[in-house]
Amino acid sequence: MQAAKHEHWTSSFTFLLAAVGSAVGLGNIWRFPYIVAENGGGAFVLIYLVIVVIFGIPLLMSELMIGRSAQKPPLSAIQSFGTTRAHKLWQALGWSYLLVPLGILTFYSVVAGWTLDYAVNTAIGSFNNLQDGESAKIFHTLLASPGEQIFWMTVSIGITVAIVARGLKSGLEKSVEILMPALFVILIVLVLYASFTGDFMRSLRFMFEPDFSKITPKLVLLAAGQAFFSLSLGSGAIMVYGSYLTKDISIPKMAVGVAIADTFVALLAGFAIFPIVFSFGVENASGPGLVFVTLPIVFNDMGWIGQIFGVLFFLLLAFAAITSTISLLEPMVAELSERGKFKRARAALYTGAAFWVVGIFVAMSSNILKDVHPLGFIGRFHGMNIEQVIEFFSANVFMVLNGMLVAIFIGWSIKRSLTLEEMGMGGSVVFKIWFLLVRFLVPIGVLFIFLDGIFNISG
Ligand code: TRP
Repeated sequence: MQAAKHEHWTSSFTFLLAAVGSAVGLGNIWRFPYIVAENGGGAFVLIYLVIVVIFGIPLLMSELMIGRSAQKPPLSAIQSFGTTRAHKLWQALGWSYLLVPLGILTFYSVVAGWTLDYAVNTAIGSFNNLQDGESAKIFHTLLASPGEQIFWMTVSIGITVAIVARGLKSGLEKSVEILMPALFVILIVLVLYASFTGDFMRSLRFMFEPDFSKITPKLVLLAAGQAFFSLSLGSGAIMVYGSYLTKDISIPKMAVGVAIADTFVALLAGFAIFPIVFSFGVENASGPGLVFVTLPIVFNDMGWIGQIFGVLFFLLLAFAAITSTISLLEPMVAELSERGKFKRARAALYTGAAFWVVGIFVAMSSNILKDVHPLGFIGRFHGMNIEQVIEFFSANVFMVLNGMLVAIFIGWSIKRSLTLEEMGMGGSVVFKIWFLLVRFLVPIGVLFIFLDGIFNISG
């Protein structure tokens, strides 16, 4: 079979749509607001912003650079840098970059399924006339139902496979050209609505008035982990999207663009959610249930208009999730088709099917298989179900490890002249700062996130 040709984005703008689509996801709209709420509002936001600048942007630049320089998907890209013994060891990093996104895909597609389920159920009025406690019950019924979760997970993976199978131009680009503008419009409409009907000033103070006494090592590590996940770092997506960039596009500019847009959406998600949550007095509205339990109550209180905004909100989440799942499937599909193993459509179908099977186990982790603890015999994993083990290894261990190693790879292993040329900034001050960060600060900082992810050092 002939290897598929390596393609390129139509323009830097389509790259931005796709890369922002990958970064903006459940992490921004579902997780960011509740983590902010649980961790002292403004203090968390402040630290988060600092971390995006000193860790996030340098790492985005690093991953984009590897992909763009090699013009190959992650594993081939890292392999292409050399054949010395040391480089053989680096291949492990390539494999990790190839496999981490698929691990994330297995649980991400289940939650993406919930958002589709909620969009449809809000639309048909399942959340109308909610009685006390009923919203939580509906959410728990979903978690308790393998069938319902598997059904919606199948839909989300099916959509993802269908898009990725069509390739870069008619699959990925076409879908982000529709979904991303729609996402921004819905988000702005929701923020406007929330600021007119809800307590906007209180939200503003909550998000931007830092209480410095709340800044602890734990908060810093949590913010770092969130930034990492939110920017899609360490998980193949940024690298493979970077490989579709042509040489005339500025990597630093693209990295800054992705970081700003991703952070902006996370903050806006806060402004879409907090004002209405505050003004409806649902005070204990934190934790993962913020979006799936609290918001349906609030929308229900607002009558038919709430129903419309509820559908919009869950569609927003679903769009954000789909533009992320396509970038989770893409690295492996690009790798298989460009190595000539399968045609792209088949590669998408087989990979999607394989991880759909794993997804079934994830969907059953909250019900039938909830007492199965795959690594329960090891103290650290005691009580973790299948989903938690997969999430732990992909998002806490290997994703973070990848980020650390890629910084070391660029800072210490590959030729400096190549890095200079690829960044296209000569030996300017910006280049020097970036290079220093990547050589020293980033690996050390990320090492702490990694150690905390495993040993929970911050307690
Ligand atoms: N950035 C995504 C979010 O915030 C999550 C994510 C992490 C991701 N790594 C990824 C998405 C790789 C796509 C590809 O929801």
